[in-house]
Amino acid sequence: MNPVIMTVFGGPRRDGFSAEMLRRFTREFQAEFVGYDAYERNYAPCTDCRYCRDAEGCCNDDMDGFFADFEACDGIILASPVYNMSFPAPMKAILDRMQRYYSARFFLDKRPPVAKRRPVTLLLSAGSPDEKGDIAARQLEQIFTVTNCELTGRVVLSGTDGADDLPALIDTVAPEIRSEAEKFRKAADDITFSSHNS
Ligand SMILES: Cc1cc2nc3c(=O)[nH]c(=O)nc-3n(C[C@H](O)[C@H](O)[C@H](O)COP(=O)(O)O)c2cc1C
Repeated sequence: MNPVIMTVFGGPRRDGFSAEMLRRFTREFQAEFVGYDAYERNYAPCTDCRYCRDAEGCCNDDMDGFFADFEACDGIILASPVYNMSFPAPMKAILDRMQRYYSARFFLDKRPPVAKRRPVTLLLSAGSPDEKGDIAARQLEQIFTVTNCELTGRVVLSGTDGADDLPALIDTVAPEIRSEAEKFRKAADDITFSSHNS
């Protein structure tokens, strides 16, 4: 049975570098893909209303479907451009809305707040040749401590500002995309296998 993989795309350009990285990554293996586009969904930001300190979940139901897929899937692929060393605002809004899981863990004592462990891979594109995606990865790792996720790898396509030939630049990270996709697929398969046998 194919794993169910959630993809979350964080950029506004569907013909851009990060979109193409996501297409190439998902071509590497068989899965049932459930796709979310942060700009298209345009979820509300967290308002720190503190509802989630007293009840599990979020007072705003706009992300209910997202959270259900996030908790049930066998793996997650995040693909995004780097904006000001971090994620574009609509993607950052999604990450901030994970606060409900932090509250579940530390105010409601849910251990763990999400039952199923899932691997995550991060695909980034960045204008600067020096950008390594460290801040974005650190943000995710903080969130993953309360969402039962594990960052299995990242591919960063840097130096896009000076590039006019998109396929040629992406070809430079093709081997990394293939090896990270293989690592991710194995991790997701392990989870699918164990959850079907437990
Ligand atoms: C608002 C904004 C902020 C950006 N900030 C950064 C940055 O901090 N570091 C960097 O390397 N590139 C930065 N960039 C460049 C993008 O990361 C780069 O163009 C990226 O490859 C675009 O990806 P896409 O083709 O998937 O849209 C920024 C671009 C925009 C529009």
